Amino acid sequence: MKKKILVTGGTGYIGSHTSVELIEEGFDVVIIDNLYNSEAGVVDKIQNITGVKPVLEVFDLCDKGKVDTFFNKHTDISAVIHFAAYKAVGESVNKPLDYYRNNLMSLVNLLDAMQHNGIHDFVFSSSCTVYGQPDKLPVTEDAPLQPATSPYGNTKQVGETIIRDTTVSDKNVKAISLRYFNPIGAHPSSLIGEFPKGVPENLVPFITQTAYGLRDELKIFGNDYDTPDGSCIRDYLHVVDLAKAHVVAVKRLIEGRNLKNYEVFNLGTGNGVSVLDAIKSFERVSGIKIKYRIVGRRPGDIEKIWADPSFANKELGWKTLSSLDEAMKTAWDWEKKIREKKKDA
Ligand code: UFG
Repeated sequence: MKKKILVTGGTGYIGSHTSVELIEEGFDVVIIDNLYNSEAGVVDKIQNITGVKPVLEVFDLCDKGKVDTFFNKHTDISAVIHFAAYKAVGESVNKPLDYYRNNLMSLVNLLDAMQHNGIHDFVFSSSCTVYGQPDKLPVTEDAPLQPATSPYGNTKQVGETIIRDTTVSDKNVKAISLRYFNPIGAHPSSLIGEFPKGVPENLVPFITQTAYGLRDELKIFGNDYDTPDGSCIRDYLHVVDLAKAHVVAVKRLIEGRNLKNYEVFNLGTGNGVSVLDAIKSFERVSGIKIKYRIVGRRPGDIEKIWADPSFANKELGWKTLSSLDEAMKTAWDWEKKIREKKKDA
């Protein structure tokens, strides 16, 4: 019998790639999504890639009644991977209550319903933002957490705490928080990828939109940081590599191979890449020169962070396989594909 995994936010960027990998690994997938930041048609794209269309239930996880109704209907769920959340750092500063309500109420409702329905295995979408600016690089999972610099970041810290406390109070509950570094790129089929709403906040969608001619220029937020070329350093990983980590994490829980009831893993490549190097990578794979301008620092930006992924390498048997250039190439292929489609429409 195939095991069924609930993927919340499964039509979103990382959720859709993870749904593909789960199906390809022989799992059944049921998705809950309120389509706030994604489209229902993504399940058809997942079907085009895998041959299987996941079940999609459209509702908001903040609605406790609907969450309970869902679990009454789907009684055979083995584990939950929870992506559904708001994720725009800048927006969270202006709408903190929306972020706290949405990201935390949904989490509490979900954990509560899982407990009531005897579902114990939980994988959480966390972020390297919980580290702030670490003293030591590359950063390991036991590095002290810093006060969050945005309400969004705080929802990830508080979310992790809620989950850890739940595993302490109920020894049946097993959970893994996955701290993502910077996911980029798209599925090699170019059928799924990221759809930023409005002007992109993140670097790679801004680069690809500039290359396509949708933006006049890319603004580089600061070149006076204490880094080799003065621009900020991040750890960019291919979203398909990231998606695969969720499959190994959920299998680890289902098969009871976890060392502790609550575990945390860094998911990154281990390589620090500057903004200027990321642009060069894009230019190499696309053959297009990016028009950019150096402007002032973006408030809240971390100077430099990259992962020590050795715990995930060893314990999950997971590591990134794609290079930065390969990931950039898929980001560019995806950008071109969605724009072509818009032209045809
Ligand atoms: N950057 C630019 N110009 C842009 C956009 C970004 O120079 O137009 C720079 C940023 O200053 C930063 C780097 O590119 O140095 C990466 O910025 P992103 O916005 O792509 O990513 P962040 O590292 O700021 O944020 C990401 C996720 C968050 C997460 C955070 C954790 O988007 O969800 O990592 O550090 F919380």
